[in-house]
Amino acid sequence: MKQTAYVNGHFLPMESAMVHIEDRGFQFADGVYEVVACFNGNFLDMQPHLERLERCCAAINIPLPCPLERLAELVRQTWQKNPFPDAMIYIQVTRGVAPRAHLAPDNLVPTLIITSADLPKPSEAKLTSGAKAITLADFRWKHCEIKSIALLASVMGKQEANRQHADEAFWLDTEGHVLEGCSTNIFAAINGTLVTHPLDHQVLGGITRSMLIRVAREAGIKIEERPWCLDEPGLTETMLTSTTNAVLPVCVMDDKPVGKGIPGPMAGRLRALMLQNMDALRNA
Ligand code: PDD
Repeated sequence: MKQTAYVNGHFLPMESAMVHIEDRGFQFADGVYEVVACFNGNFLDMQPHLERLERCCAAINIPLPCPLERLAELVRQTWQKNPFPDAMIYIQVTRGVAPRAHLAPDNLVPTLIITSADLPKPSEAKLTSGAKAITLADFRWKHCEIKSIALLASVMGKQEANRQHADEAFWLDTEGHVLEGCSTNIFAAINGTLVTHPLDHQVLGGITRSMLIRVAREAGIKIEERPWCLDEPGLTETMLTSTTNAVLPVCVMDDKPVGKGIPGPMAGRLRALMLQNMDALRNA
């Protein structure tokens, strides 16, 4: 499919969709973004994604380029111009264009881009074997709750994971607690309870994280949001969540098996429940 991108009020062919070289996103990573999944034109949790974008813009003092209802409409239009059956919508807002200086002038017009692409999904092989991860000491900044486009640490973490033939790197705090992955939130099954790090400045409040907690709660699974470690007694499974993965079991950690080293029952059950929600959107 020939892709069309939305750029500052215009729909343009992807190859001519450009922003200025003095865009502050390009020069300072001065912006925030969202990734939303869409199934047959029905968006998964659009409102929470747009509300997170609004919060993140507010956190770095960028005015929203337009009201949320208008943004939702632009997202819909972008999908209609790129109607991938399972789509991944990317939304990026930067502070705008100005001569390069750290302090931005007042009243810049924010840059807004929106694209729609095929939703990447874990392969069947990955679902069967589970993903592999490594652990890294967290060297990111102290505002991970903001979905910033400054992703250099995440890029470096993914490179290191790839070098070690793994799919993801889990960030550990100085006490060895698992915070989150480079582009995912992380959960563990510990004595039958679903455990994940609480929301704070070290973790992005993933929309899929919220969905997994909701789905688990409805299924009667006990949930604890607390710091946890990979060597906790009773830990049988780890899994990651993100818009592009839904929930995916992680079965090898730093080259050692997690639990039995194969996808476990908690992840399997939760993935089936999440996929039901996505199928419902596909068939809506
Ligand atoms: N990444 N934590 C981090 C650091 C992330 O970058 C992401 C998402 C998540 C999961 O958030 P959500 O469930 O809302 O997708 C957690 C996106 C998908 C990306 O950068 O492509």
